[in-house]
Amino acid sequence: MASDSLHVTDQAALEELKAFLRIPSISTLPEHADQVRLAANFVRDRLTAAGMQNVELIEAPGRHPLVYADWLHAPGKPTILFYGHYDVQPVDPLDEWLSPPFEPTVRGENIYARGATDDKGQTYIQIKAVERLMQSNQGKLPVNVRFLIEGEEESGGEHIEAFVASGDKRLQADAAIICDTEMFAPELPTLCVGLRGIIYGEIHVETAATDLHSGVYGGAAPNAIQAAAEVIAALKDRDGRIAVAGIYDRVTKPSDKEVAAWARLPFDENEYREKEVKVSALTGEPGLDVFERTWARPTFEVHGIRGGFVGEGAKTVIPARAVIKVSMRLVPDQRPEEIAALLSEAVRKAAPRGARAEFKLLHSAPPSLVDPDSPFLTKAAEVMTEVFGRETVYIRSGGSIPIVGTFNQHLGIPSVMMGFGLPDDNLHAPNEKFYLPNFFRGIDAVACYLTRLGS
Ligand code: BES
Ligand code: ZN
Repeated sequence: MASDSLHVTDQAALEELKAFLRIPSISTLPEHADQVRLAANFVRDRLTAAGMQNVELIEAPGRHPLVYADWLHAPGKPTILFYGHYDVQPVDPLDEWLSPPFEPTVRGENIYARGATDDKGQTYIQIKAVERLMQSNQGKLPVNVRFLIEGEEESGGEHIEAFVASGDKRLQADAAIICDTEMFAPELPTLCVGLRGIIYGEIHVETAATDLHSGVYGGAAPNAIQAAAEVIAALKDRDGRIAVAGIYDRVTKPSDKEVAAWARLPFDENEYREKEVKVSALTGEPGLDVFERTWARPTFEVHGIRGGFVGEGAKTVIPARAVIKVSMRLVPDQRPEEIAALLSEAVRKAAPRGARAEFKLLHSAPPSLVDPDSPFLTKAAEVMTEVFGRETVYIRSGGSIPIVGTFNQHLGIPSVMMGFGLPDDNLHAPNEKFYLPNFFRGIDAVACYLTRLGS
């Protein structure tokens, strides 16, 4: 615990963040619903303590609450909508964590815990920035602000999607600020101006009414897991090209200007492979560089296969059913509904003789691009450059933040994605961490940004 060796300017903020991180708010697991609610309450209470008004939980049946708050006493000034999420990803494989995922632990200059960077640490940056401005300015802010913090980002986000689409007056704003992305490299201030979309679902494969003895029927009966493997293998070729008819039809090339900017980013492919991804070989479509493959091309990924016998020991069975969790990342101008329909058709066709295969969509979000020339972006870049002392770079990210597209579509506002995560923060993986100096510089950057927007 070397927290005094850090440039910790605000021990209290760190302790509050730890309290937030101790709450196991895993939104996708129904047995964690009470914990998810505790995290919502935590956010509500911290927003109240920060001096925000009209703080409330917005409920919908069977959904995790949204936390809303506002402060609207800066007439004539812009209104900024803060977005973040208080839910986190599951923690398995648990035995790979060096300290338990919900016992936040400072090692060196990092704090380790599930949600440390994605997105509790970064959501807390926003709350502390507003609180600090309030405290240093007699309870006033330089701009009008609203908060909308959700608890289902990691598991589909239906509640916030419906709320934003409902046209609720509380969401009137000029721009959104989202702290839920990464910097391109340590010390390199970064704005994210593009995200991939996603369709996520399950492929259900069925070959028989019930499991069968593999000795008695092997050689005659189809096997659902074998069929599942054949379906997966049919959907992507060995070069990494997705073998779904029509899938690339709407894919647009990044502009020459954007590609040129990416080429100026400090990047060494070997180092990326060895130190960041830690794999023996990179894969993906030949002839396209890593930026294009991860930011501007669609993907097809398998996340898990359920079926057959997976316990200790041996059981000789031909499984009758298998379920494959899959997703595709989408890029401009692909449309989630169209892509889901194309995938469904391809899955049906890929089923081998004696097997039925069906794709069931769980959730989806469109890809999004933000105009880098919007004054909200250029001012953010100036502030990031000041705080980090280096020129701000603009990148895209291969991840998805569904609300960005929703804000654009229903509120007509740009999302300023000022992210403070680092490439080695282990998002969604064991030993997720947040680099604490970025927590404090994040607070500085957001506070400076609001001040800049108000002047
Ligand atoms: N914060 C991430 C997205 C992200 C990660 C953006 C890194 C930029 C850089 C976000 O919380 C996330 O993981 N979203 C999910 C969304 C999905 C479940 C709909 C994702 O991308 O898998
Ligand atoms: Zn996130």
